[in-house]
Amino acid sequence: ANDMGNDLKKVLLTEQQIQDRLAQMAEVIDKDYAGHEILLVGVLRGAVMVMADLARKLHTPVQMDWMAVSSYGSGTKSSGVVRILKDLDTDIKDRHVLIVEDIIDSGLTLSWLEANLRTRGCASLNIATLLRKPDAAKTNITPRYVGFDIPNEFVVGYGLDYAEKYRNLPFVGLLAPHVYEKH
Ligand code: PRP
Ligand code: MN
Ligand code: MG
Repeated sequence: ANDMGNDLKKVLLTEQQIQDRLAQMAEVIDKDYAGHEILLVGVLRGAVMVMADLARKLHTPVQMDWMAVSSYGSGTKSSGVVRILKDLDTDIKDRHVLIVEDIIDSGLTLSWLEANLRTRGCASLNIATLLRKPDAAKTNITPRYVGFDIPNEFVVGYGLDYAEKYRNLPFVGLLAPHVYEKH
């Protein structure tokens, strides 16, 4: 479906592996939230694929809302200071909120977001992320649902971008060094 094969070093997670794992996660989430309604909060833009596929595997009634945040920082290092570009349209007071993310890398985005949402009086707050990198362990975030722990390499696809490209790949791949060394 994509002519980007040459930009990738290898496929880390196939489309099938991703979908199988999301199905397992959905089963656990359905059990955990039995009898409740979930407000899924997707973090734009990377989380769109996980949100769409995970939500379709859930049997629990869900609503969906979105936040867009941007972390201040120099270059590629994020500082942990986050700015809200688009806030929720939903009042989350007394709601069971499940944040949906594509990846936790440094963990800075989510630790800020989690703290921010906690001040709004939700009934519960959990995190579901497809991917988690090793540095996430240095933060205090404890995502309840994690798809895959992956090595500290440059991953793209399935929502994840490099310079806004590759988000539409249905799998997760490792970017070939020649792509980012050009810049
Ligand atoms: C990426 C990714 C996570 C965040 C993780 O988003 O989608 O949201 O970084 O990084 P962290 O754990 O180090 O904070 P990005 O800011 O690139 O925006 P995007 O989702 O629009 O690509
Ligand atoms: Mn993101
Ligand atoms: Mg990005």
